Amino acid sequence: MDDLRQKYLNAIADAADEGKLEEIRLAAMGKQGEVALKMRELGKMTPEERQVAGPALNALKDEITSALAAKKSALADAALDERLRAEWLDVTLPGRPRRMGTLHPVSQVTEEVTAIFADMGFAVAEGPQIESDWYNFDALNIPPEHPARQEHDTFFMAREAGDNRPPHVLRTHTSPVQIRAMQLHGAPIRVIAPGRVYRMDMDQTHTPMFHQVEALALDRDISMANLKWVLEEFCRAYFEVDQVELRFRASHFPFTEPSAEVDIRCSWTGGQLKIGEGDDWMEILGSGMVHPKVLQAAGVDPNEWQGFAFGMGIDRIAMLKYGIPDLRAFFESDLRWLRHYGFAALDMPTVHGGLSR
Ligand code: PHE
Repeated sequence: MDDLRQKYLNAIADAADEGKLEEIRLAAMGKQGEVALKMRELGKMTPEERQVAGPALNALKDEITSALAAKKSALADAALDERLRAEWLDVTLPGRPRRMGTLHPVSQVTEEVTAIFADMGFAVAEGPQIESDWYNFDALNIPPEHPARQEHDTFFMAREAGDNRPPHVLRTHTSPVQIRAMQLHGAPIRVIAPGRVYRMDMDQTHTPMFHQVEALALDRDISMANLKWVLEEFCRAYFEVDQVELRFRASHFPFTEPSAEVDIRCSWTGGQLKIGEGDDWMEILGSGMVHPKVLQAAGVDPNEWQGFAFGMGIDRIAMLKYGIPDLRAFFESDLRWLRHYGFAALDMPTVHGGLSR
C-alpha cells in the first residue's frame, strides 16, 4: 500500500496538465483502477485483516483524491498566472488620444450663445421644424395674402388630395417658438430658441436650411433700450472684444412694432471675412417690440405685458467670429472643412470658463 501511495503521489506531482491528471485518477480510482482492485481483495480477508486493511485503504483513497484536487487547482492557478503575464498591460502609461471627431461650428456657436443668454437669465425653448401655417404666420400677424408670406420663400409640406386645409410648412423662422413659449409659460418670460429654419435661397451667405436663435423677453416695462443693451452685451461676450460696431436700421416686421434690423461692421477683403473693421456690414438679426396682436394671439394681455423679440442668424455670427467666408461649405460635410473649422468635442463653452477655446 505504501508503494501504491508513493507511485500515485509522485505521478500527481509530475502531471503537467489536467489531461494527465485525469489519466492518473482513472488508473488509481477508476472501476478497474488499482485502488478499486485492492478494495475488492478486502472480501477475501479475514475479519481481523479487514479491520486493519479497510481503514488504511480508505485513507489511501482520500489521500489520492485530495492530492488530485490540490494539483488540479495548482494547475489552474498556474494557467491564470500565465495569462496574467501574457496579457499584462501598464495602466500607468499615458492614454493614446483617439479622435472622436469635432464639433461643427454651428453646434459650437449654439452652445456659446446659449451660455451667454443663460447668464442673462434666458431659458431655452423649443418648437417643431415642421410647423403649422398658424404658428409660422397667422399668430405672428402675417395673415393669408400678406406680402410677407411671399418674401419668406416657404417650403410647403405635401397635402393629401382633397384636403383643403392650409399645408404645414418647414418653419421659415424661429419666431413661431415665441407663440409656443407664451402659450406654455405666459408672461413674464425670458427665453431663447435656437434651431433650424428653411427658406428657398442659396448663395454665399444663404442656404435653404440655416439656423436662427430667437429671443423673447416680456415683462411690465421692457423697452427698446433693454433690447439694445442685451444685444450689445451679447456681442461683447460672444465676439470676446470690448467694442463691436453695431448698426440699428429701422425696418419692418409684421410681428414687431417698432422694428429694427441690426448689422455688424466687417470686411471681406481677399476672400477673408473679418469683424470690427472695413466698410462692409453684415446683417445678423431682425428685432423689435412684440406686436400687441402677437401677444393677443398667444394669450398674453397686451395691456399688461410688453417686451422685445429678435431672431439672429447663428450661421452668420459663426462666419463672423471664426472667419468662415462661405456659408454653403457649412452643410457639405466635407471632412477636411470639418477638421479645419471644428471644435474639441468635450470643451463646454461657459461665460466664466471661456467660450471658444
Ligand atoms: N423672424 C424674423 C426673420 O426671420 C426675425 C425677427 C425675429 C424679427 C423676432 C423681429 C423679431 O427674419
